[in-house]
Amino acid sequence: MISVLVVDDEPGLRGMLEISLRRDGHRVMTAGDGREALNLLAKEHAIQVVLCDLRMEPMDGLALLGEIRHRWPDILVVMMTAHAEWDTAVKAMRLGAYNFIHKPFDLAQVKAMVHRAVAAYRHRLEARVKGETVSAVHLVGTCPAIQAIQLLIEQVSTTDSTVLVTGESGTGKELVARALHYASLRADGPMVRINSGALSPSLLESELFGHVKGSFTGAVEDHPGLFALADKGTLFLDEVGELAHETQVKLLRVLECGEYLPVGGREIRTANVRVVAATNRDLMTQVRAGAFREDLYYRLAVIPVHLPPLRERVEDIALIAGHLLARHAVRLRRGVTGFTPEALEALRRHPWPGNIRELDNRIQRGVALTQEGLIQAVTLFGDAPGNLVPIPAPGTQGDLLLARVKAGEVIDLEGEQTRRERQLVEAALERTGDNLTEAARVLGITFRQIRYKVRQLGLR
Ligand SMILES: Nc1ncnc2c1ncn2[C@@H]1O[C@H](COP(=O)(O)OP(=O)(O)OP(=O)(O)O)[C@@H](O)[C@H]1O
Ligand SMILES: [Mg+2]
Repeated sequence: MISVLVVDDEPGLRGMLEISLRRDGHRVMTAGDGREALNLLAKEHAIQVVLCDLRMEPMDGLALLGEIRHRWPDILVVMMTAHAEWDTAVKAMRLGAYNFIHKPFDLAQVKAMVHRAVAAYRHRLEARVKGETVSAVHLVGTCPAIQAIQLLIEQVSTTDSTVLVTGESGTGKELVARALHYASLRADGPMVRINSGALSPSLLESELFGHVKGSFTGAVEDHPGLFALADKGTLFLDEVGELAHETQVKLLRVLECGEYLPVGGREIRTANVRVVAATNRDLMTQVRAGAFREDLYYRLAVIPVHLPPLRERVEDIALIAGHLLARHAVRLRRGVTGFTPEALEALRRHPWPGNIRELDNRIQRGVALTQEGLIQAVTLFGDAPGNLVPIPAPGTQGDLLLARVKAGEVIDLEGEQTRRERQLVEAALERTGDNLTEAARVLGITFRQIRYKVRQLGLR
């Protein structure tokens, strides 16, 4: 049996929660303020979940939360907050609350939340009994920013709060999202990713929320949607700044009350999903410009994580480079053992516009082109350290590449595709005098898609 402690200064609310949670088969205890709760917790060793009000005298919810996290870190704390206490709710999540419920709430919501917390608690216990350690995602680096992020990932591991990861392209946003998932109580559940900018709004909605058969042409059968597929796991919403307005409204609703409606459906579904979002854009600027809902921004950025660009983490470059070298050397079976001093210096000096993804590509290439020993600067950067490898003349590129692959040479397929795409988009923009609508037509893609591409490629 699971024991729940309800802490609230309103006797009526305490009583109501006590009765209804008991009816669900839980053992329920109550306390009227933080101090009473602490006394109970010290005497009772079997409390797993605490439902806690924010505003109480003399010891309030935040102080109680801090004490619990410190003394009994396994206990899951759900905060009950009024809508107006939004700031404090966010603070509570940062302090390590498992989740929060807005007052006034309906009982079904509280029951569902307790149910989730109980399942999470059991899950963690089972994993520990089996001696399992969750597969660690390795975020390499010792600079202050990375250390702070590692600490934060640990701190929020028992919570369900949404995290917004920001940073330039290639700084490791997806890696952080994965680290968050695998460190969390949901580690055994699925981790599902979706690129919010790659689909039209209606397709994206059907991807996220699912659709019922016949709801639109092509909907030949029911589709569960990612909120269902990510059940008991984490949904990673990549490029969240690209969400269309209608989709933002629907997403806000799931985040606030855990409910959504599949496209064309009538039955409301409940989501048990932790959302991690990422963007390489400044969402606050978008909020100010009216392109992104402010309420959704705050709902997503309960825990904000910012990844600095690699050029601001120079002290970590050698460390990450070494890690990547080891990985690729094993994979490509090369006896490569390190970098020459010049190569290391060139790595430190390069501005890294593509951040760690670029570093990864260059090192992969360096390992592939070095039989054994140390990788040289020239192998990483061509003749001039710090310069990009020259782009082949248009038209010849495809055939040249083909020849290189046929000769068994290693190429960077993704890099080449991006380069090609950039050439084509640039040509279309030039041809149409920077008219996005026209350029989209020339390229046979939608306006949203070209807007996304232009930003992704850094053309504007
Ligand atoms: N601190 C790190 N240690 C080791 N590898 C890293 C680190 N950060 C990023 N990487 C690696 O760099 C590559 C790019 O990272 P990731 O895909 O997470 O970046 P991103 O910010 O999501 O990029 P984009 O905005 O382009 O989608 C991945 O291969 C990832 O494993
Ligand atoms: Mg990414």
